[in-house]
Amino acid sequence: MTRFALIAAASFCALPAFASDTTFEQVKIDAGKTLFEAECRRCHAVEPTDASYGPPLENIVGRGAGTYEDYDYSIALEASGIVWTTAALRAWMEDNDGFMPGTKMRHVGIEDRTVQDFILSYLVSITTQDNSAISK
Ligand code: HEC
Repeated sequence: MTRFALIAAASFCALPAFASDTTFEQVKIDAGKTLFEAECRRCHAVEPTDASYGPPLENIVGRGAGTYEDYDYSIALEASGIVWTTAALRAWMEDNDGFMPGTKMRHVGIEDRTVQDFILSYLVSITTQDNSAISK
């Protein structure tokens, strides 16, 4: 591994740990959890065995789109070749079917940046694995 890759991997791992140490970040995570439960959870269960309409979003940050094993994705999502960075997740929340025509996820239009921020903080907090190797 090159020095750069090591630094990149280290800073990626450090983010959630740092986040949970700060009170403001914890408030954002808690708010994001509430919003996620209201806006996303009914289709995105924790357990892949649960009856659910969408793939699990645990460990989503840094994951390649359409790569959760055994989930029957739309061709659009599976062939997109994108990685779920926070910027991509923001665009997806704002206008998923505009961002990726052909997706089978029903339109969610979360345009409020603060709400996006909260949900992103929560998604980062439930990303506990380093996806950098997978998403290459
Ligand atoms: C009505 C059900 C529904 C709701 C509500 C919903 N989703 Fe989805 N989501 C889906 C489906 C179905 C897919 C698979 C789409 C495809 O294959 O094109 C998906 C896919 C995704 C993906 C891609 C995952 C991957 O493995 O590539 C992300 C990220 C995502 N949703 C985030 C969210 C977020 C964040 C919310 C809440 C703001 C949300 N979704 C709300 C049904 C839903």
